[in-house]
Amino acid sequence: MKGIKIIETAFRDAHQSLLATRMRTEDMLPIAEEMDKIGYFSLEAWGGATFDTCIRYLNEDPWERLRSLKELVTKTPLQMLLRGQNLVGYKHYPDDIVKKFVEKSYENGIDVFRIFDALNDVRNMEYAMKVAKEQGAYVQGVISYTTSPYHTLEKYVEFAKELESLECDSVAIKDMAGLISPHDTYELVKTLKEETDLKVNLHCHCTSGMTPMSYYAACQAGVDLLDTAISPLAWGTSQPPTESMVAALKDTPYDTGLDLKALNHIKKYFEGIRKKYSSILDPIAEQIDTDVLIYQIPGGMLSNLVSQLKAQDSLDRYEDVLIEMPKVRKDMGYPPLVTPTSQIVGIQAVMNVLDDERYKRVSNEVKEYFKGYYGRPPAPVDPEIAKQIIGDEKPIDCRPADILEPQYARYEKEGKEMGIIHKEEDILTFALYPAVAPKFLKGEAEAETLLPPSESNGSCDISAIPTEYNVEVDGDQFEVKVVPTGYISIEETENIKPPSGPVEGGVSSTMQGMVLKLKVNTGDKVNEGDVVAVIEAMKMENDIQAAHSGTVAEIFTAEGETVNTGDTLMIIK
Ligand code: CO
Repeated sequence: MKGIKIIETAFRDAHQSLLATRMRTEDMLPIAEEMDKIGYFSLEAWGGATFDTCIRYLNEDPWERLRSLKELVTKTPLQMLLRGQNLVGYKHYPDDIVKKFVEKSYENGIDVFRIFDALNDVRNMEYAMKVAKEQGAYVQGVISYTTSPYHTLEKYVEFAKELESLECDSVAIKDMAGLISPHDTYELVKTLKEETDLKVNLHCHCTSGMTPMSYYAACQAGVDLLDTAISPLAWGTSQPPTESMVAALKDTPYDTGLDLKALNHIKKYFEGIRKKYSSILDPIAEQIDTDVLIYQIPGGMLSNLVSQLKAQDSLDRYEDVLIEMPKVRKDMGYPPLVTPTSQIVGIQAVMNVLDDERYKRVSNEVKEYFKGYYGRPPAPVDPEIAKQIIGDEKPIDCRPADILEPQYARYEKEGKEMGIIHKEEDILTFALYPAVAPKFLKGEAEAETLLPPSESNGSCDISAIPTEYNVEVDGDQFEVKVVPTGYISIEETENIKPPSGPVEGGVSSTMQGMVLKLKVNTGDKVNEGDVVAVIEAMKMENDIQAAHSGTVAEIFTAEGETVNTGDTLMIIK
């Protein structure tokens, strides 16, 4: 009997999809030993957005989370999602950083590396795969699944063969938006089994509603591994429920062999977790959304778009953004929408709509994409748009990481000078998140407060609640803002009092986001069009330019600060 093996995603993808990646380590450890006894193929527990969220919002060391889990999970392999050359960040890192990161991840407890690239460009995956193999890890190559005139069965099989030639142990079909139909699943899985010697894994999100059918079709086509989430963290934009899948396949040739009673105990535990986090359980993420079949936008992204539009006070443009996104995707050569391309395409669509003009503002990532720095787009990009964005510059055609200088030693030196390096892993945390990591590594970060679950129902209607308050704590003024995830973020307003409303000579933020870089100091002379600051919004970098030439008279913000649309950042006289 063949039997299907199950990968449980509760500790990574499930809470990333439904709870904005906010599950804390303290909520994982009490159930970890029990989950270790179930007999899963692996527990997906690290990587993806968990690393970023740990240091940005939870004041947790992601490396410590991994070590703590490893101590309790001794039999079941721990799995991570690695974004190829992007690791757990949003851009390409040079090979020296990739090597160290993969080595340290393995050393701290990762057994299975699931490696993908948003463009299915194997050149962005091969180095991480090679290093993981050298460690003795299990390596899974990923097909980022999407649909377009260019994404044919033949292309996918060709890509799987490339991955096989890199000696990966299995291949995963990663269907971020639940787009794959049962029929297409059957064809793809069957063809991959026939044309390669690889084990095949299907990883889908339930967003479109088709996924449980597609999982069964995959079984019939000979799939080896399926990704599921324990039921309280399943459905919606997450994976199909583990228990249902186990029950559905019981006493068939696909029997998982897992014990429903043992799973039921784990389910009870996660019911409590779901309740604890109910204030951030995204109502959009929880639903089946058949829009995805038309707009192809992965579920996690929809909630991102909503919060981005709310921050710009433009939620009424939501439909327009949905319509604009596939157009931007087409202009860019049909990239699959997964981190980081989902954010790159998403925020460009938002800007195109809010400006009522396409590509008037362009994020730095979009410029780099058109220059080839992310790799080879699946289809040719629109030549007119490319010309508008990068002029006559010719895109690179080498492996993107080949043009990056080594960085590890530089971050090591810089981090040590700053006194923020206490262990080798801290250098990697710093190198991956230079803007956010110092505060965390200095011990100055604070965990967000989790709002208590509301008594009446599971999820709250964010729109009904006022979002900004001024409160006084021990004589200090704080500006308190309830962000759309349901978290409270507190920022001191002491030193920074930007004038409100339009200011003569003022340079204001065009987006709600974090000040990533200030490129000028008080007294600097600038010319019209010079980049004076970089704002990070939805993980994308956006240049803020001087509207006129002059001298920087006053600066009202600092790197790492959160700013709103229209906030005056500085005055140029
Ligand atoms: Co996923």
